[in-house]
Amino acid sequence: RRIVVLISGSGSNLAALIEAQTHDRLGGEIKAVISNEPGAYGLKRAHEAGIEAVALPHREYDSREAYDGALIKVIERHEPDLIVLAGFMRILTPRFVQRFMGRMLNIHPSLLPAYQGLDTHARALADGVDVHGCSVHFVTEELDGGPVVLQAECRVTPEDSVESLKEKVHAREHLIFPIAVQWFLQGRLQYANDAVTIDGQPL
Ligand code: GRF
Repeated sequence: RRIVVLISGSGSNLAALIEAQTHDRLGGEIKAVISNEPGAYGLKRAHEAGIEAVALPHREYDSREAYDGALIKVIERHEPDLIVLAGFMRILTPRFVQRFMGRMLNIHPSLLPAYQGLDTHARALADGVDVHGCSVHFVTEELDGGPVVLQAECRVTPEDSVESLKEKVHAREHLIFPIAVQWFLQGRLQYANDAVTIDGQPL
């Protein structure tokens, strides 16, 4: 089974996926890592792991449609069963989402549906929540709004800062993302006809 990973930054989730792959816990092979930011550290991680690392800078395209069209082409060259969004900081066009519907997983640093969008840790802290966390979800046209498949929680203490929360959440992201990817590639997790199933049961 073939995986393409999209990133924009450090790629610590990518590193967790590579680690899982090394230990045969991913259910597939990462064939390419694509970044819209040419300087993303994650590209270096990919290269060092012997994975094709592609920089596709969005600044070189006139429109979102043109960029996503180019992205679709690069992705399809690798014939992926699954596209993993691991910190890919771009809003996707409907055309892109429809092309890969049911084959795209994203990780988001909040317990969705709470805190869609950016600055999730700061917003959770400002609200004084006791529990925060991360979610893996299928990607749909609604930003951070697709069906959730797996979440991990962490406690928020009065001592927490944005940085400490980010660290706690990241540690949990690295645990749950490879699991969800493996479920999908094993055929256990599916998203079809607007419904998520795991082992044939509605989630
Ligand atoms: C993670 O917090 C993820 O939830 C969000 O972007 C961040 C990516 O971090 N979508 P990294 O590049 O994997 O370190």
